[in-house]
Parts: sequence; structure tokens; C-alpha cells
Amino acid sequence: MTTRKLGVVMNGVTGRMGYRQHLVRSVLAIREAGGVELADGSRVQLEPVLVGRNADKLEEIATRHGLTRWTTDLDAALGDDDLPLYFDAQLTAVREKSIVRAIDAGKHIYTEKPVAESVEGALALARHAEAAGVKNGVVHDKLYLPGLLKLKRLIDSGFFGQILSVRGEFGYWVFEGDWQAAQRPSWNYRAEDGGGIVVDMFCHWNYVLENLFGAVNAVTAKAVTHIPERVDEKGDRYAATADDSAYAIFELEGGVIAQLNSSWCVRVHRDELVEFQVDGTKGSAVAGLHKCVIQPREATPKPVWNPDLAETQSYRSQWQEVPDNEDFGNGFRAQWEQFVRHVVDDAPHPYDFMAGVRGIRLAEAGLESSREGRRISLG
Ligand SMILES: NC(=O)c1ccc[n+]([C@@H]2O[C@H](COP(=O)([O-])OP(=O)(O)OC[C@H]3O[C@@H](n4cnc5c(N)ncnc54)[C@H](O)[C@@H]3O)[C@@H](O)[C@H]2O)c1
Repeated sequence: MTTRKLGVVMNGVTGRMGYRQHLVRSVLAIREAGGVELADGSRVQLEPVLVGRNADKLEEIATRHGLTRWTTDLDAALGDDDLPLYFDAQLTAVREKSIVRAIDAGKHIYTEKPVAESVEGALALARHAEAAGVKNGVVHDKLYLPGLLKLKRLIDSGFFGQILSVRGEFGYWVFEGDWQAAQRPSWNYRAEDGGGIVVDMFCHWNYVLENLFGAVNAVTAKAVTHIPERVDEKGDRYAATADDSAYAIFELEGGVIAQLNSSWCVRVHRDELVEFQVDGTKGSAVAGLHKCVIQPREATPKPVWNPDLAETQSYRSQWQEVPDNEDFGNGFRAQWEQFVRHVVDDAPHPYDFMAGVRGIRLAEAGLESSREGRRISLG
């Protein structure tokens, strides 16, 4: 079987996501495996060209991974006809401009979320991509998590009966940076640099909710900045102008109520960093990144409220683990493979710029709800 080549301009690979998840765990892992397998059994090998602002860092990464092509000149990379695909994992604030240039150069586009900083900007990109006839996709990584894939399997099996509600807890303590370095970049905490947990996480929550439970019809949210001052990568104090926690209720098409907390100011008393509890008439499930446990109607215990007695039931032990039953690979890689098949084989990849627009629309609505203290309808 033949192996074709697909040149990819990768912008933002010196960053956390661009390097670890997209370059190392996805593109390099795909290269190592001999490329992406297509429906007819042939393969497409990825040929990355690293793009960024810092030549030394790019050269160092390229050398570390045996790559030969890198440049600080985005336009030169975009002008190369042997590179039909542009990928963007830069910080959000500079993404829109680069994607416009890539579309103008006729590239297909795959990008980290959020696609742009505003609904207006994201819509403009979606229209521009459509008019140019280029394929476009946005990272929807959470859908590829083993825990959520198991949840999807349960939904498809009819396990829940009628789904009533979803409650989700996402987050962990991000150090302020004074006596221990923060484990996330400081721009995440500056609104003027595109930071904020609502903009960051509601894009994810939108696609998780719409693909598993139903489109979001309305949102009521409270976004706050619990920690007003942090210390950056250089050790300098800065004003944390962006929201670091958000408490939200989402009303979904079909009547499901989803209530999701997102926070960088919460200490973890959970099994995983994100957990969703789904309650249905016939059963319930709790899914994390990897694990998923269930409790069917028939095995539901009958708790009785009695504050005079110490608890005797071990509620967590009354749930049953859903087995893997398949190998779950890295989710970012799985989506890269799907998008590459979309580009070269026209295979389906529904997570396009318009899906990205809906994510940003939810983030904007969440911030509006918080600012104005009211429920925002998206209908
Ligand atoms: N899918 C996910 O789960 C997920 C998780 C975290 C971040 N993200 C997204 O990934 C993107 C990158 O986030 P990160 O956490 O890797 O950030 P990061 O700060 O680690 O990396 C940012 C990258 O952008 C580049 N960059 C910074 N300032 C720039 C500028 N002015 N001009 C051009 N390039 C610039 C940096 O050199 C670096 O390569 C963001 O859009 C973020 O929303 C997605």
C-alpha cells in the first residue's frame, strides 16, 4: 500500500498544548506509527513544519525530535504549496489574524479552541473558510476522553431512561505563583490577554453538552475572580483581571438541566479533575477523564435522612465500574487522525468552525449572564 505525504504548518508548538498534546502526543506519534490509515488501507504521513517567534526554541524542539523544518516566517510557510494544512495552538488573542492569513493562502485549518476571541471574529472566520472552500476544524478533545466515550456508550444503549440532569465539577487549585510556581500560564488570568475560565471552559462545555445531551438553550452563570493578584513566570506580581471560577446552570434542548462548576480555586476531593454525574429515570453514572461508574434503578439503595445517626452506608462502593472494552488512545491524536481523513478522504469531521462559534457564543452569554445577573436565552 502507498503512503502519501501531508505537509502541516504547526504554529504555537513552543506552548504547553502545542508541544505536548499536538506535536508530541499527536503528530509525532502518528509519524512514528507510519501515518494515518485511510479507508482503503493506504496511509498519509504527516510532514510538520514548526512555526513560532523564537528561532532558538524552534530549533531546539526540532532537533530533539529529529525534525528538520522550522521557521519564524509564517508567511513563507503559508506560501509553500507542499503544506496544505495549517494548525494553530498559539495563545488565543493572536489566533484570528493568523488563521485569516492561512485561509487567504488556501490552507485547510485545524485549530485549538477558542477559534477566536469573539463570536463576531469566529463567525467571520467560519464564513471566510466557507467562501474559500477550505476544510476547517476545532479541537473537541473532551469528547475523546475515555470517561466521556463510556458515557456516550451508556447514552446510546438507553441505560439512563430519560436523562434528567448533569452535574459537573471541573478544576483544581492553581498556585498563585508566590511561594510555588503556577502550573498554568499567567495570560490565563489576564482578561486583556484573552484569559478567563469562562472563555476557556464554556467552549468545551458547549460541545460536550450538545454532543452528549442536547444543545444549550439558556445559561445562568456567575463568573468571579476569587484571587485578584498572582505572580507571573518572571516572578512579577500582576492584577488577575480575568475570572478564575464560574458557577453555571445550562438548560438544554429536551429539558435536561446541566449544572457545571469550573474553577482554578478549588482543592480536589474527587477521583478525577473533571467529573460529570448524570441522573436518569432508569440509572445514573459518574464519568471522569478515564473512569465511569454506574448505578442502575434496580440497584439503587434507599437512603433515609437521620441526622442523629452516623452514616453507615458506603455510597461510593454501591456503584459499578464500566469496563473499557476497547483501547482508548490519546484523544488529541484521535481527533488529528479524524481531521486528516477529513482533509484527504473527505471523511466526516463535524467539529468545524461553526461548532467553535457556538462554543464562544456560550462563553459570551455566560459572561453576559454574570455581568447582568440574569438568565440568557440562546434560542
Ligand atoms: N484543548 C484544551 O484542552 C486546551 C487546554 C489549554 C489551552 N488550550 C488552548 O490552547 C492555546 C494555547 O494555550 P497554552 O496553554 O498552550 O498556552 P502557552 O502560553 O503555553 O502557549 C502559547 C503559544 O503561543 C505563542 N505565543 C504567545 N504569545 C504570542 C504572541 N504574541 N504572538 C504569537 N504567538 C504567541 C507562544 O510562543 C506559545 O507557543 C490557547 O488558545 C488555549 O485556549 C486548549
